[in-house]
Amino acid sequence: MERIVYVNGEYLPASEAKLSIFDRAVLFADAVYEVTAVIDGGFVDFAAHQQRLGRSLAALEIDFDPAGADLLAIHRELRDRNALSEGLIYLQISRGEAERDFVKPTAIPPSVVLFTQAASLVDAPAASRGLRVITRPDLRWHRRDIKTTQLLYPSLMKSEAIAAGVDDVWMLEDGTITEGSSSNAHIVLDDGSLVTRPLSQDILHGITRAAVLDYAREQGVAVHERAFTADEARAAAEAFITSATAFVTPVIEIDGEPIGSGTPGPAANRIRELYIKRSRERLTY
Ligand code: PDD
Repeated sequence: MERIVYVNGEYLPASEAKLSIFDRAVLFADAVYEVTAVIDGGFVDFAAHQQRLGRSLAALEIDFDPAGADLLAIHRELRDRNALSEGLIYLQISRGEAERDFVKPTAIPPSVVLFTQAASLVDAPAASRGLRVITRPDLRWHRRDIKTTQLLYPSLMKSEAIAAGVDDVWMLEDGTITEGSSSNAHIVLDDGSLVTRPLSQDILHGITRAAVLDYAREQGVAVHERAFTADEARAAAEAFITSATAFVTPVIEIDGEPIGSGTPGPAANRIRELYIKRSRERLTY
């Protein structure tokens, strides 16, 4: 059975779905997106993803009201039509189709695209193996808090990491780690406290990051929201990333040097289990 996708009001087999070559997503990456995890057929943190979508759209002045469109109904329909029990739903909204012009057009209808990807998220091999990362300069634009589809630099960096025989990059700016290619970066100190970069325009305000910090604080874990260096990461007890699809995944090596024991550590494993448990209790169906 071919995958059914959603484009501008229609549910279609993927091979029949079309977006104009003049769409601003194609020509200018003038589009924002969200990735929502699906586990047990339910959506993880649906409301938080919709809120961030609203902020991204407002920041770019894209004329689409997520509250007005029934995006949950589209998510449900795609999940059901594709019998998706575990994986993700990708949602992209671009400014729309217009003659190529650097001046952004006004009053055009936005383009809305959604599709599913099946994947094993809970039993992901990377979670039991741990990730090896290398550092690279963060050369992205400076509004990383807006979840745009300008993903070329992270894509090139992640590809460079894979070509170098490791799993991912952690990006560095002014001597401190910003984030992973598509995740937020965190370390665990010897006293068990978490260190994570504070929210600003330097990083995406991860939905998983916010949930993990809440769950950790509930457990009495101290959280320090401050920038940290690659040297601190190297000397940390543990490290991990968070994202909608990686959940909490341990990082076991940075620039060829082991972090802590060089294997997934107890704190990261605990917070991953807690995140999955709490997410399961709060799924949107
Ligand atoms: N990426 N930072 C960046 C640069 C990201 O691309 C992502 C997510 C995150 C984590 O955010 P969240 O917890 O809300 O998923 C942080 C998604 C998963 C992607 O592009 O596929």
